[in-house]
Amino acid sequence: MDDYLEQILHLIESKGYARAVDISKNLGISQASVTNMLRRLDNEGLVKHEKYRGTVLTDEGHRIAKAIIDRHETLTRFLRLFGLEEDTIYRDVEGMEHHVSRPTLAVIRAIADSLEANPRLLEEVRSKIDPRT
Ligand code: FE2
Repeated sequence: MDDYLEQILHLIESKGYARAVDISKNLGISQASVTNMLRRLDNEGLVKHEKYRGTVLTDEGHRIAKAIIDRHETLTRFLRLFGLEEDTIYRDVEGMEHHVSRPTLAVIRAIADSLEANPRLLEEVRSKIDPRT
């Protein structure tokens, strides 16, 4: 469900609207499943269908989608500090974002902020990472 809301908001921000066919393409999920999921999100009051605009987020749906994207961006910002491959970062963030709790995310954000503000500390941490891993 998170992936859908995230994707819908990305589509709305880049194209102005979210269509089932685009959601299906971006998530690699059949259009029938997307249509089912959109119906569920609609029942829960997170999206609604507008005749000429396609799927739009309700205020509540928008709030949740924003939080999901914020979580994705915080985790990405954190992992980027350590010189990992972009592919690795993306894959790990997509996995972690479904499991990380709000308190843990706050810890990760605080560490990322501190490491960004303190290049010597960041260097020290990076020097401990075995380049063969
Ligand atoms: Fe994500």
